[in-house]
Amino acid sequence: MPVLPPAPFPLSRPRRLRRTPALRDLVREDRLSVDDLIWPLFVCDGAGVTQEVASMPGVIRRSVDLIVEAAEEAAGLGIPAICLFPYTDRALKTDGCEEAWNPDNLSNRAIRAVKAAVPDIAVMTDVALDPYNAQGHDGIVRDGEIVNDESVAALVKMALAQAEAGADILGPSDMMDGRIGAMRAALEDAGHTGVTIMSYAAKYASAFYGPFRDAVGASGALTGDKKTYQIDPLNGDEGLRCVARDLAEGADMVMVKPGLPYLDLCRRVKDAFAVPTFAYQVSGEYAMIRAAAANGWIDGEAVMMESLMAFRRAGCDGVLTYFAPDAARRLRAG
Ligand code: PBG
Repeated sequence: MPVLPPAPFPLSRPRRLRRTPALRDLVREDRLSVDDLIWPLFVCDGAGVTQEVASMPGVIRRSVDLIVEAAEEAAGLGIPAICLFPYTDRALKTDGCEEAWNPDNLSNRAIRAVKAAVPDIAVMTDVALDPYNAQGHDGIVRDGEIVNDESVAALVKMALAQAEAGADILGPSDMMDGRIGAMRAALEDAGHTGVTIMSYAAKYASAFYGPFRDAVGASGALTGDKKTYQIDPLNGDEGLRCVARDLAEGADMVMVKPGLPYLDLCRRVKDAFAVPTFAYQVSGEYAMIRAAAANGWIDGEAVMMESLMAFRRAGCDGVLTYFAPDAARRLRAG
């Protein structure tokens, strides 16, 4: 809060400092930088394959060789990290989700290929069972219930396989209880002491994930909803408690998800914990901006940049966004 209230008009005229670009540059409080961006990428099978995601115009799935090219593009633009999501063949989805910890699954092959070709870019993963689960859930389903502890044991195996493949940042997005502590202990035991965890800590049961589920081929598979593990959208305090818990269990960074509709959480998390705080501008947020821009209803580029600036203002250190390469190009152009 300001120490003193502003002087009364006309002693104070806030428009004086808005009068010219130079004055506006001088007093701008924050900056959005390429360093703040994490680019989520969808991986599919094959070689030389690209597939469009209808509900996310401009987003494509790429086979591993083209993921490597995207990683090179990201590195060239100065984007520090990419995040990989696999589009898994239906035939590989099972009740036990065994493909999740296959050392040669799509995601782990992509991690290895990127780390071999572009070693300096940070590779983030998704730790959740939904791409591999016959019922599309992030945990294992028994008699219609998403069982916690058995899911955590599976997620630990998945996380270890990703660490083994060379992942720099594990992103547990599953929202099971106790997963961060279990993963951290297993990583330490296995000697992966330098692998970081960015916990999807305040992750809400949101309708904004719809297009993503198309992108990873989980929409058709999902039975029911995720409300028994993801947080109720009206519960801000619960989000804070989940952040506190994940930090206590060994998370290095935390995430709020979705992004713009949950900016209050970003600010509260940063103020309460002063730890590296990230937001995920999710697929539905991306799709809305793209769709309105395609209709000529908004200036898509300007809204893209403004939406990303909002995360900085709300206290985020960075943001996962499908706009990452476009925003990076725009930032580099000045
Ligand atoms: C899977 C996962 C989801 C997203 C990231 N990891 C979907 C979900 O929880 O259903 C959503 C990302 C987006 O919408 O862009 N656990």
